[in-house]
Amino acid sequence: LMKSRVTVVGSGNWGSVAAKLIASNALKLPSFHDEVRMWVFEEVLPNGEKLTDVINKTNENVKYLPGIKLGRNVVADPDLENAVKEANMLVFVTPHQFMGGICKKLKGKVTGEVEAISLVKGMEVKKEGPCMISTLISKELGINCCVLMGANIANEIAVEKFSEATVGYRESKEIADTWVQLFSTPYFMVTPVHDVEGVELCGTLKNVVAIAAGFVDGLDMGNNTKAAIMRIGLREMRALSKLLFPSVKDSTFFESCGVADVITTCLGGRNRRVAEAFAQSGGKRSFDELEAEMLQGQKLQGVSTAREVYEVLNHCGWMEMFPLFSTVHQICTDRLKPEAIVHYRDHKA
Ligand code: NAD
Ligand code: 13P
Repeated sequence: LMKSRVTVVGSGNWGSVAAKLIASNALKLPSFHDEVRMWVFEEVLPNGEKLTDVINKTNENVKYLPGIKLGRNVVADPDLENAVKEANMLVFVTPHQFMGGICKKLKGKVTGEVEAISLVKGMEVKKEGPCMISTLISKELGINCCVLMGANIANEIAVEKFSEATVGYRESKEIADTWVQLFSTPYFMVTPVHDVEGVELCGTLKNVVAIAAGFVDGLDMGNNTKAAIMRIGLREMRALSKLLFPSVKDSTFFESCGVADVITTCLGGRNRRVAEAFAQSGGKRSFDELEAEMLQGQKLQGVSTAREVYEVLNHCGWMEMFPLFSTVHQICTDRLKPEAIVHYRDHKA
């Protein structure tokens, strides 16, 4: 039987933890090659060394996940085409804004029987409407693509604290089970769900809710207000997901990718933290500035997702049904003050 070869496309904060999880399982499971390739967007560190060289020497992603050993079987590769060449299982995990460019570069380069999974929380908005990242991967590369989303703050999983995650799949339960097997550890419990759109939209839309929660924290509005924002946010997530894909299931919102990810991101995520600082600055600082200063190369997804959602709502004439989503975008673009996050009524979404 042919052994599977896995390549992780991406090496940020979550990308590095994903590589660590997969690498530990690839060593244990006989159906996988030991080596796990990780494509690294090359950069030169302040000391003049290349990030890939340092990862391969120290086995640590010193910039995006310092202090954590990835496993000796993780090989960093700065050449995207070379990194995917021999793999039959591709794990995509980069900030969503880079996925269009990555797919373009890989178009026509991925051949044979290849399966993909996307850990990317986000979407693209094209003229025809929204395009989920797993659909972008499927269409551009001509391969099937599952998704993995969940309440998964990377730094906590890196130190092996228990969490759950959800794999969403379109057709083959067997392929979903292979991904579950590749990711599962005693501290990372993965459940397959037959609702790829629902799972991916949960992961994408919760980042907008997290920005709203950050505003609430920045203005010191308290726990009840934050809980209200989470509840309203979850309802808007479900309503928009079902408008976009009527097949989306209610039960998906009770999986790790739904309510649990809303909670953890609104408590401890990067989107929340930067939105809190934005609200505290009273209009003096922009998200771009704060992102660069506070995240040091890591990327926010919520602000751009709020804009993308706003474009969809505007295009479809759904604005009034989604006051939380649309207010977040208007605050991010300085058209409303952060206080406006609670200035609306009739949440019947
Ligand atoms: P990150 O936020 O750490 O982003 C940094 C990464 O982006 C680095 O690998 C960097 O090299 C890369 N990058 C910068 N410029 C680039 C370019 N021009 N082209 C390609 N890559 C470039 O990334 P992350 O935390 O791994 O997040 C990836 C995805 O996973 C996102 O959709 C995020 O929402 C999701 N996610 C993150 C977490 C988390 O806790 N970090 C948890 C769950 C899901
Ligand atoms: P942040 O990007 O806001 O840190 O959220 C991480 C995440 O997706 C947790 O599941």
